[in-house]
Order: sequence, then structure tokens, then C-alpha cells
Amino acid sequence: MEQHGNMLAIAGSPGSGKTALAVKLAAEIAGKRKNVILVCSDPFVPSVPFLLPMDTEQEVSLGALLTAPVLTQEKILRACVPVPDNEYASLLGYKLGENLMSYPKVTRERAVEFLICLRHLADYVILDCTSVFEADVFSILAMEMADRVLRMGTSNLRGISYYRSHADMLEGRAGTGKYLGAIGNYRTGQEWEAAVGQYGGAAFIFPYVAELEKQYDEARLWDAMTSKEAVPFQAEVKKLLAEAFGLCGEKQGAKNAEKKKLVVRSPFVWKSKGEF
Ligand SMILES: Nc1ncnc2c1ncn2[C@@H]1O[C@H](COP(=O)(O)OP(=O)(O)OP(=O)(O)O)[C@@H](O)[C@H]1O
Ligand SMILES: [Mg+2]
Repeated sequence: MEQHGNMLAIAGSPGSGKTALAVKLAAEIAGKRKNVILVCSDPFVPSVPFLLPMDTEQEVSLGALLTAPVLTQEKILRACVPVPDNEYASLLGYKLGENLMSYPKVTRERAVEFLICLRHLADYVILDCTSVFEADVFSILAMEMADRVLRMGTSNLRGISYYRSHADMLEGRAGTGKYLGAIGNYRTGQEWEAAVGQYGGAAFIFPYVAELEKQYDEARLWDAMTSKEAVPFQAEVKKLLAEAFGLCGEKQGAKNAEKKKLVVRSPFVWKSKGEF
């Protein structure tokens, strides 16, 4: 039987919907009465202030944890911000008003120590990486240490340009089978098949959902989506959880994932890495 880990990192193109998807995955896991910690590691745009209601209190920042003289499991747990009305989910991230300069440089050793601790503190851990991970050692280590990494792209040229600049880091750090490909925030009419070719395959397509965008703007991403339009997005969420964690027993998920692993010739201008 395939062994599943409990830690999934999400990395990839700016604006591809990594953070939004990370919340939807965490919410789905919590809905199954499993504890989940979502770590939003982006030090450039602190996430707690826009992923939870405005009046949410956050005592300890992820930045403080990652640079504290001593790290303990208790300290991590105390820093976890509970998601309102959701006893299974909590969030770790930077605090309102902070930026990368607010703390000393995070060391590789500390990031490793933190990630090892984290794995034991919850049933599942979702690591939402910053797209500017060259500047964030934590995001790099998150990709290295996670059991699975979802690398997300967009089906537009900006996303592909980003991927071309980061492909080595997004693909090259681990053994085979760890990386899953996805296209996020996919809008009808975009050439996703061509984009999938540029990303070397994508097992998951997360469509644009107006309801999700509204929830994001209103800090209500933890709420369930009720629109008909959201159904295919949620189906991909379930499929991903089945593939990454073996959660929910939807055997169909893995099968469909296989089917979608398309590598299509691209009509985009950049035909090969060399030409770029
Ligand atoms: N599937 C989707 N449907 C509708 N809107 C989406 C979807 N995915 C993302 N968005 C919107 O795109 C914007 C960026 O989303 P998000 O912050 O999740 O992307 P990201 O990949 O985490 O970006 P960054 O690289 O800046 O961290 C948000 O306004 C969000 O509402
Ligand atoms: Mg993000």
C-alpha cells in the first residue's frame, strides 16, 4: 500500500492561487475532523491579516518563531492562530505591519527544526510558500522537507515566464514522484493545454471561481463555497487530498489525475528552454 506523509508544500507562479488553495485544502481537511496547521510563509505580505477576520488577535508571528533563541513545540502551538468557528484548523504566518526586515535572517537549521516539530503537531500540515522563495529560506526548506510539493502555474505567459526562471528550484530538489503539477486560477478561454505542456504536465486544474475571489476579498476563504461554479474547484481539492495524503478514499481521484497528465505541444512563443 502506498505510504502517504502529512506535509504538503504549495509553490509556484505569483497569483496562481497558492494561498487561496492552501486555505481551501485546510478547510476541507478540517471538515473531516482532522487537525491541520496552515503555514503561510510569505514574509512580504503577512497573511493572517487577510486570511482571518480583521479583529483576529495574533500574538506571535511566524517571524518571531523562526528567529527565537529557542524553539519548542509549546511555542509553536501558542503561536498558532485558531481559525474562528473551526476547531480543527489554525494558521501560522507573519503579523500585520511586518516585512522581511522585521526579524534577523532565518537560518536553514532553524527552518529544518521548525518543520520537523510541525510535522508532529497536527494530523496534516499545509505549507504555503512565497513565490519569491530565493529571499525566503523557509519556503525553500518547506519544498525540500514536505512529503509532496504542488507546483502551481497559471495558463498565461507571466506564469510561464516565472516558471522558466524557477524550474530548477521547483523541480530539481527532490526525488521522483514528490512533485505534483497544477494550473491555478484558470479562466475559460485560456490555453491551459498549452500551458500544461510548458509546465511539463499538470494533474490538477483549479478554475477561476467568482465566489472564491469574493471570499478572498472579504477574508471569508474558510467558508464553504455554495455556488454551482465552485463544484469543479472543490472536486479538484478532494482529488488533490486523495493523491497527496490518501485522504477521503476517493479512488477515482488518482485515476483522473493520471488521465490529465497531459504534455501538449505549445503554441506559445517559447518553444524550448534554449530559445528563451
Ligand atoms: N481559483 C480562483 N478563482 C478566483 N480567484 C482566484 C482563484 N485563485 C486565486 N484567485 C485570486 O487571485 C488572487 C491571488 O490569489 P492568491 O493570493 O491565492 O495567489 P498566490 O499564488 O498565493 O499569490 P502570491 O504569489 O502573491 O503568493 C486573489 O485575488 C484571489 O482571489
Ligand atoms: Mg500567496
